[in-house]
Amino acid sequence: MSITNRIWKLRKRPVGDVSEGDLDFVEEPVPAVKDGEVRIRTLYLSLDPTNRIWMSDRDQYMPPVQIGEPMRGGGIAVVEESKFDGLAPGDIVNTGLGQWALYLVKPGAEVNKLPELPGVPLTAFMGPLGMTGMTAYFGLMDIGKPKPGETVVVSAAAGAVGSMVGQIAKIQGCRVVGIAGSDDKCKWLTETAGFDAAINYKTEDVGEALDKHCPDGIDINFENVGGEIMDTILPRLNDFARMPLCGLISSYNATEPVPGPYNFSMLLMRHVTLKGYIVTDYIDRFPEGMQAMGQWLMEGKIKFETDVVEGLENAPASLERLFSGKNLGKLVVKVSDPG
Ligand SMILES: NC(=O)c1ccc[n+]([C@@H]2O[C@H](COP(=O)([O-])OP(=O)(O)OC[C@H]3O[C@@H](n4cnc5c(N)ncnc54)[C@H](OP(=O)(O)O)[C@@H]3O)[C@@H](O)[C@H]2O)c1
Repeated sequence: MSITNRIWKLRKRPVGDVSEGDLDFVEEPVPAVKDGEVRIRTLYLSLDPTNRIWMSDRDQYMPPVQIGEPMRGGGIAVVEESKFDGLAPGDIVNTGLGQWALYLVKPGAEVNKLPELPGVPLTAFMGPLGMTGMTAYFGLMDIGKPKPGETVVVSAAAGAVGSMVGQIAKIQGCRVVGIAGSDDKCKWLTETAGFDAAINYKTEDVGEALDKHCPDGIDINFENVGGEIMDTILPRLNDFARMPLCGLISSYNATEPVPGPYNFSMLLMRHVTLKGYIVTDYIDRFPEGMQAMGQWLMEGKIKFETDVVEGLENAPASLERLFSGKNLGKLVVKVSDPG
């Protein structure tokens, strides 16, 4: 008896925000499981800013999703059928690079069984213990190289990556200032996540607020946003500052060429090290990142939020939450129940 899959496929390349009709929600039979493969059912789908990049044909770090192809995405799933030694029905796995689909049939070697950590919810494996946690950990530790007493500024601070960056920087003994888009987010950053200060870029003068909260200048700018916010940070960088370039979300929906940073020269004047990176650059070191993040999580040193949207059918419309800033913490879609 064949099982019916539900898959989002890219119908056309979005212009600006993703809109209705850019993707098709189709039903098709799930292929039979061959030797070495598993059939997994998605429990949670991760929605990420990079989904928008993959939908476009701009020059990017991996091939774009082609028209008519299933939308690419990661998530957490349960094994339903296994012809792969080492995985059995009921195992919970990270899908690796998967699809916006209810079911996936793929080589068992390409999915990773998740460890069971008492008291840690599954969604942590998409946040602190997932790709966004690893992005924060390696970007800050390897490129930012934080030292006790230094000042760290992070943009999109209440999001999945930013909220981890600030808390890791606090653990390293830094002074941490977050930039976010609402008073509620700023309150969460200072009162729950332990940031020293937070700036609401929608209501405050970011330059004035940075001068107030970073009286000794900025040693690390963890860049998630680009555009005007980044431009305001650049002249406030200290000599030999570091700048992990993680993301430029302010430009992902742009329909016109984006102006370069007006204060680019400050990178020269202040001897700044800027490095763009993609989290998978660190794939061989993920066990180190998982170990550190897992330890801090169990010790209660890291707080995290998950913004859960119900239903695979709502995936494309929910991506917008990342661009309007509706999400606090990691945005995920709950697709099905484990049982
Ligand atoms: N290099 C890598 O390997 C890697 C991996 C993962 C993520 N990233 C990047 O990291 C950044 C954060 O990703 P995430 O997954 O953690 O998403 P996220 O921060 O959870 O969500 C995106 C946040 O960006 C903020 N934002 C959106 N448009 C903005 C704008 N025009 N100006 C200022 N802020 C804006 C919104 O918060 P506000 O309410 O504060 O506006 C929103 O909540 C993105 O740039 C993403 O591409 C890079």
